[in-house]
Order: sequence, then structure tokens, then C-alpha cells
Amino acid sequence: MRAFHRIDALRAYRQSVGRVAFVPTMGNLHEGHLALMRAAREHADTVIASVFVNRLQFGPEEDFERYPRTLRADGEKLAEAGADALFAPDEAELYPEPQTCFVDPPDLQHLLEGEFRPGHFRGVATVVLKLFNCVHPQVALFGKKDYQQWMLIRLMTRQLALPIEIAGMETVRAPDGLALSSRNAYLSPAERAEAPRLYRTLCKLKEAVLHEGVKQCAALQEEARQSLDKHGWKTDYLAVRQCSNLQAPTSATQKLVIVAAARLGATRLIDNLEIG
Ligand code: PAJ
Repeated sequence: MRAFHRIDALRAYRQSVGRVAFVPTMGNLHEGHLALMRAAREHADTVIASVFVNRLQFGPEEDFERYPRTLRADGEKLAEAGADALFAPDEAELYPEPQTCFVDPPDLQHLLEGEFRPGHFRGVATVVLKLFNCVHPQVALFGKKDYQQWMLIRLMTRQLALPIEIAGMETVRAPDGLALSSRNAYLSPAERAEAPRLYRTLCKLKEAVLHEGVKQCAALQEEARQSLDKHGWKTDYLAVRQCSNLQAPTSATQKLVIVAAARLGATRLIDNLEIG
């Protein structure tokens, strides 16, 4: 596998290969990321991954400084998963001057995650567009674990007429249901044992919504939130929303998704589950 730290060198390599599938990451790679790499292989002959911890998408009180940086191990995992190239720029390479041009996503950026992480999706969209401009992929793969991010990237790509297909991949979970995440490393053993409750709660809520109907959503989601809070979680949001726009459901025929973010001690976990 080739590794590039400079945009020029990546671009020279890019000219020597054909169709590219791209998987952007912030590193500390786990099976969820590697599943994206393997799926990427089915879309193109050349798979390029990036590892870059993007300061722009972290709030001032968030974990930018302590986000796990494990580039050497990431390179080994990528090589094993069959990636052809890794793009791992440092901050001075990607942001040689303070970034003052941003992609400003539509109002969807202010809902749910956006309400609790102001500016987050502006930072995500900006770096993803910049990475797309460095890599020039035909296809880019994202995890539906970050459901709102996946939606916003699709929207940006469509509305800015980027010639890139965006693929969404299912969430990879530990055997006990916990969605894999680099942030799981922050959990103490006791918190790790408690963490699968988030997914269990989503599954229970899904069954309840299917059984009792969309009209009961508000009451059911409140019950679900209380059951998490009773076990020591601090729930930022737990909501049944329409898949198409993440607004509250308005009819029984809409495709729905349950989205949630909750904190266990100092660790904030997110998850979601589609209904139907
Ligand atoms: P990161 O959190 O490293 O995730 C990189 C990609 O892996 C994202 O598309 C994410 O949705 C996907 N992913 C993470 N955990 C997953 C799991 N358990 N199953 C399936 N896919 C999973 O998301 C980011 O980085 C950044 O915001 C980025 C897009 C790279 C921009 O900086």
C-alpha cells in the first residue's frame, strides 16, 4: 500500500490510476471502517482511504486533543484490508492557512447532532469537499452509523453537482450490539458493559412503534429516554424521525429512523436504527 502525506504526491499517484473508491476517516480504525474498505473494493479497482483528525468539526469543549491518533496501526490495518493508498496529511498540509471558506450545509445541519454540536456539520462538509478535491474519487463510502452526516454529504454532493456517487453502508456492531466507534475506547470497563443498552433501547422502541403506531411516537420515545436516564445515561436526543429529512413523522406511511445520542460518563455515543 502507498502512503501519501502531501497533496501533490497524492495527485500524481491519482493520475496513474483509473476509477477510485474513497473512504474518508479520522483514523483509529476498527471493523466498521474496514468493512467500508472492503465494500469500496467492489466499487473500483483502486481504493484510497484518508486519515485526518479534522479540527474544524470539533467544538471548543470537545475531544479534538485527546482523539486517539494511531496512524502506524491504521496503516497496517488498511494494508491488510486491501486499500491501495492512504492519504494522511498533517494539519499544515490540509489547512496551510486558517480556513475561512466553508461549505454551509442547509438547515438539516442544525437539527439533532447539530443542536448539540454547533458548527460540526459545517466542519465535516468543508473537509469532505476538500478531501474530494484532493482524491477525485468516482465513489465515496460513508457509514450510516453517522446517519445525519451521510444525509448531508449526499445532499452536498447532489446540490454542488459533484461527479461522485455516495454509498451508505450498514453499521457494524460488536456481538453485544454496541455500534463500533473510535470513542468506545474512552469507556471504562463498567461503562463498556452498560453501553449496549443504547442499541437495545432503540430495538425496543422500534418494536413498540411498529406495534403501537406512529401516533404514539412521542410518548414511546419519552419512555425510552427515561429508561436510559434511569441507568445513568444523559440523553442528548432520542427521536423517531423521517428518513428523508429527519423531521418528526407526519403520517403512517413514511420511512422512519430512530436516532439517538447519549452520554455515559464523559463519553458521548450515537446510534440509530431504521424502521421498516
Ligand atoms: P470517522 O468517525 O473516522 O468515520 C469514518 C467513516 O466510518 C464514516 O463514514 C463513519 O460513518 C464510518 N463508521 C464509523 N463507525 C462505523 C460502524 N460501526 N459501522 C459502519 N461505519 C462506521 O466520520 C468521520 O470519521 C468524519 O466525520 C469524516 C467523514 C472522516 C470527516 O472528517
